[in-house]
Order: sequence, then C-alpha cells, then structure tokens
Amino acid sequence: MAKATSYFCQSCGHESLAWSGRCAGCGEWNTLVEAPKAPPAQGGGVRRRGGSRLSQRPVALRDVSAPAVERLLTGVDELDRVLGGGVVPGSLILLGGSPGIGKSTLTGMALGNLGAAGHQVLYISGEESTAQVRLRAERLGEAALAVPALAETSLEAVVGTIEAERPDVCVIDSVQTLHAEGMSGGPGTVGQVREAAGRVMEVAKRLGCAVILVGHVTKDGAVAGPRVLEHLVDCVLFFEGERERSFRTLRALKNRFGATSEVGVFEMRSGGLVEVVDPSARFVGEASSAPGSVVLCSMEGTRPLLVEVQALVAPTEIVPPRRVANGIDRNRLAMVIAVLARHGGPSLAGADVFVNVAGGVRVDEPGADLAVALAIASAHRGEPLADAEGRPLACFGEVGLTGELRPVGHADRRLGEALKFGLEPVLCPADDELGPGAQPAPSLRGALRGALGSRGRRVERAA
Ligand code: TYD
Ligand code: MG
Repeated sequence: MAKATSYFCQSCGHESLAWSGRCAGCGEWNTLVEAPKAPPAQGGGVRRRGGSRLSQRPVALRDVSAPAVERLLTGVDELDRVLGGGVVPGSLILLGGSPGIGKSTLTGMALGNLGAAGHQVLYISGEESTAQVRLRAERLGEAALAVPALAETSLEAVVGTIEAERPDVCVIDSVQTLHAEGMSGGPGTVGQVREAAGRVMEVAKRLGCAVILVGHVTKDGAVAGPRVLEHLVDCVLFFEGERERSFRTLRALKNRFGATSEVGVFEMRSGGLVEVVDPSARFVGEASSAPGSVVLCSMEGTRPLLVEVQALVAPTEIVPPRRVANGIDRNRLAMVIAVLARHGGPSLAGADVFVNVAGGVRVDEPGADLAVALAIASAHRGEPLADAEGRPLACFGEVGLTGELRPVGHADRRLGEALKFGLEPVLCPADDELGPGAQPAPSLRGALRGALGSRGRRVERAA
C-alpha cells in the first residue's frame, strides 16, 4: 500500500518521498518534516469507461455569468486602497508581517469599522487570550471593543464557529497557530498550515465569508511556511517597516482583485495605526539641508511619494569597506558606488558607505539610483545639495552602467509632487514628456555637475 505521508520542506513546501538532510527544492538544511500527503485533486464530471472523464462543456467567457459584487469597506482607507477598493466578499487574504509590526492592530481596526457599518464580523485569535485582545481593542476605541472575539487554535472548532456564526468578514490571527486534529506535525508546519488554509478557504467560499489570515514571516522575510499558501489565497498583503520606527507600509504582493503596486503608509500611535494621508509632506518636512541628504521623487504604486535619502561616507581601514543600505537594495547601492567611481563621482574604495531612506520607508525601484548617487557624492564632499534657503534638492532617475541617466515611469507625476512642495528644479533624466520644473541631465556626470556645481558651489571637474 502506498505510504500516506510525505516529507515537506518547511521553507519552500517542496514534497519528497524520503527524508533527507537537505531540501532538493530550495537547498535549505534540516527543513524536511513528515506530514500527510496532500489529497489528490477531485474534479467533477462523469467517469467514462477506460478511466477518462466526461467533463462539462466549456463556455465562452462572455457567456459566463459574473455578478458584480459589492466590496466591503474596512474604513481604513489605506487598507481599502491596497486591496483595490475594499474586501471582496468570499475572498481569502493573507496578511504577512514580522511580529509587533501591527497586524493584529490593523485587522482589529478593520473589523471594528466593518462591524460599526453593520457587517457581521469575527476575530479568532490563536496567539492571544480574549483578555489580551480586549486590552488592544481598548486602545483602538469603541468600535473595536464591539467585535466578537474567540480564542481558539483547533482548526475543526474554527471552521465550526465560522459555519455557525456566518460572518461577512473573519480574521484568523494567525494561521500558524491552527492545528488540525489527527495530523502529525505541530502548528505552523507546512502540512498544518496548508490544511488549515485549505479548509478555511473551502468554508469561506461556500459561505461567501471573506477571511483574513494573519501570517508570520521567517527571518529572511518570506511569509513563513505560507509560501505554499501564496498561490492558494486571492490576495497577499505584506505589512512592513521597522518596529522601532513609527512608519509602516502595507503592500500587495498578489491581488486577484486589484493592482499590486499600491502602497498604504501608516504611523503607529498610541490609539492604533493612523493613516498617513500625505506622506510626502511628512518626509519633506523632516528632510535636512545637511550634506548627504537629498529628496527622491519616488513612485509607490500609482502614487508619487517624496522621501529623503541620506548618505554617510566615512573613511575606514576595513577591507572590504562596509556598504550598508536601509530602505534600498544592497546590490543597487554597490552598482551606484561603482558607477560613481567610473563616471565623474568619488572613488570610495577606502570608505564605508551608509545609505538610509528616512522614516523606515523602502523604495524598490531603479528610479532611486540618482538620489543615492547624489547623496553619496554630497556626503563625500561634505557639501549640502540644498539651496541657499535650505530647500532640499529633489531628483529621480535610473543610473545606467555606462554612466547615463535613464528615464523612469511617471516622470510627470514625480515632478508634479515635487512642485507641490516648492522643490524646484528637479534633477532628472532627459525625457520627452517632462513638464515645467525639470532640470534634465543626460548623464550622471552632468547631474553631479548640476547638483553640486550650478548651486554656487565648486564645479565637479569633468575627469
Ligand atoms: P500588534 O498589532 O500586536 O502587532 P502584531 O500583531 O503584528 O504582532 O502590535 C504592534 C505594536 O504596536 C505593539 O508593540 C504595541 C504597539 N501599539 C501601539 O503603539 N499603539 C496601539 O494603539 C496599539 C494597539 C499597539
Ligand atoms: Mg498579533
């Protein structure tokens, strides 16, 4: 008889028939755990003689009925925007984030608002007792206190409760605490997490109840175990930021019902998460006019966002010198440093370089290159990029390996955002659709000259 269990990697979900020390899927060591096999997919249809199935007839897509569903607004505008306009009834949403980032707070607030708007809600906590959940809700206000809550970790009990209560929106905090009876492996293992998500999805789709599964992330930032869940759920949201900092960003990594480029910005305050409606104003207001600081006109999804990029260049004896990047990709930092050395900027072989995007924001786009380069050059020379009145310099653009500046998307919107805050001119790549306020430069060398030269300072000598 075939064996009923397999070995599953806790890191990538790879299934193998025999145990081995190293996962063949992702190469991690000691991650295989024995768990029951995933049940075979059960398709509908009639079985014909010979084993093939007589399936239903395919229908042209235009003839498929798709009733327009009304989305449920969580009342947390940034969350609604990232979701693509609210929660779709019956959808399954995975909300990932490191501990303490505010997942329970965000979901608690959303349920509170949904409940106040007359929807049936349910909060199932597997991590905290209801008394602890209440303490948080007290900080969030009356609406959050009205949310029905249950502390439960048994998957059967959770599914039973959803069936009995039939909520419109249910939060399960977190999916890693659920365990199915009769399954080996502790809560949080791949088998358990997959079983939990599968069973919850089944009941959610059947009852039209939207479920938000809260999930923890592993040390390397992936939604733990739940890598196997990403294809299963309709939407994967990621809540990130640094715990010590107050700003948090909410992004969609996958969204079957909306764009994945939207980003919500929040600030953690004593009364819960507060949406930062105009994050540019916050970041520009905090920008300094000291050497090594520049304002980057970045795009967060469809929204332009001005953020401050700071750099520090310090002489060092350490070989190789340190390159520390906070909020930008480390490899891009290395590339920008190399291009600077070859194309008109300083050579930093004997210096530690630290680059930081202020406010704990992450900008993952090539449009940040120019800002990083200018901040480093300014820090290296000890010369501010700000003008005589202390207004910071704004810029954006991708730096190519040959030292050219390459256009990036939404130049007009980036410019518009800078103009809104009186940041003019904006250093940027030459582009056809540039509006007023732009100071185009064809190359990194030209941009360095424009930034550190024309503002009444030493002209970067063309080497
Ligand atoms: P929490 O939502 O419990 O994080 P997670 O569920 O992601 O682990 O809370 C995150 C932190 O936020 C916690 O350290 C306490 C803090 N906090 C506030 O500062 N203000 C508040 O109003 C609340 C509810 C929490
Ligand atoms: Mg929590």
